Amino acid sequence: METNLTCSLSPERVEKVRSEFPVLNQMINGSPLIYLDNAATTQKPLRVTKCITQYYNGYNSNVHRGVHQLSQLATIAYEESREKIAGFIHAAHKHEVIYTKGTTDGINMVAYAFNKKFLAVGDTVMISAMEHHANIVPWQIYGEEKEIRLKVIPINEHGELDMDAFSAMLDEKVKLVSVTYVSNTLGTVNPIKDIIRIAHQHGIPVLIDAAQAIAHIAIDVQELDVDFLVFSGHKMYGPTGIGVLYAKEKWLEQMPPYQGGGDMIKQVTFEKTTYNTLPYKFEAGTPSISAAIGLGAAIDYLQDFGIEELSAYEHELTNYTISKLLQVDGLRLIGSAKAHAGSISFIMNGHHNSDIGELLNQQGIAVRTGHHCTQPLMKIFNIRGTVRASLAIYNTHQEIDSFLGGLNKALEILRG
Ligand code: ALA
Repeated sequence: METNLTCSLSPERVEKVRSEFPVLNQMINGSPLIYLDNAATTQKPLRVTKCITQYYNGYNSNVHRGVHQLSQLATIAYEESREKIAGFIHAAHKHEVIYTKGTTDGINMVAYAFNKKFLAVGDTVMISAMEHHANIVPWQIYGEEKEIRLKVIPINEHGELDMDAFSAMLDEKVKLVSVTYVSNTLGTVNPIKDIIRIAHQHGIPVLIDAAQAIAHIAIDVQELDVDFLVFSGHKMYGPTGIGVLYAKEKWLEQMPPYQGGGDMIKQVTFEKTTYNTLPYKFEAGTPSISAAIGLGAAIDYLQDFGIEELSAYEHELTNYTISKLLQVDGLRLIGSAKAHAGSISFIMNGHHNSDIGELLNQQGIAVRTGHHCTQPLMKIFNIRGTVRASLAIYNTHQEIDSFLGGLNKALEILRG
């Protein structure tokens, strides 16, 4: 991660953190659960689940539609969450925060609307070789008619972007750069400040996929000067089904709505419809109200913890995990960037990653195996998949030791 801080949490602090996540306190296949699949989804602290229950048991109602008290309470809570999100990412205006279903939905929204308004036949969108399918496929779907091309920033053998190639590839056909902040598969932390600065020198806007960064690195959209930033609630200790598209007001004003329906309109006639003001122009239909409110609680959790302290702790735990893994005979890290976040991928010579995942599961250890929705990246590394351990704030050094023990045991079994 982009920090030189090192930090260890006291055992009391770790215990307190873990006590807020009851799901962690269970046995799986006779062993204590060790949850190392946080890049797929994080667990939820009690304050998030309680606040969702409070909404359903106390003031369940639709937003922006009712004069009655419950609807007013729901609207206030829903909009308060938007304000918390805007504060968390330092947006200039809360109407630049659009609720989505998640990162994928946010990218689809931009791919649809940016394509419709700003792309012409034969234009190019630049992505990187380490993108999740969610930052590849939407550009192909919406760009098909205009024959939009994808240009791909290459990576080196460590899984770091080739920034010289990036600069050299920017030409007048490139209309948008869309890259991930942190690779879900490799753990690489990309130099997004440089990417944004260089793209802007050419007058090209930038979308950042912050799905794997938002819970781990402090983000200031104004300081970054980023045009679009997307992330998911469920990867930041919040609920599934909710995410955020942040976009500068000037883009949101110019882009057409993504979907039509309730809440996004000003006036509807059979002949013509005019659209609501921001952010509602992009929020058609009844939203995921409980999830939006839960996301606000997750942000409170992260802010109370302190994102700098959290980042420093995870940085230390990441280095610890990597140093231990490198001692395992026959293990090859996939992704060894200098700037490395807590998604750590590896393969074992001669062993299928799903066999390793299954043998770890038998010992209560949850990791993800496979291509991690990055098939083109697998092709570059000439592999079919990896085993991926991904860390979060409640993981401990002791858990990493147990994970290594479990991995060695799995290898013993596989080696017969
Ligand atoms: N994109 C999520 C992952 O990497 C699901 O696991």
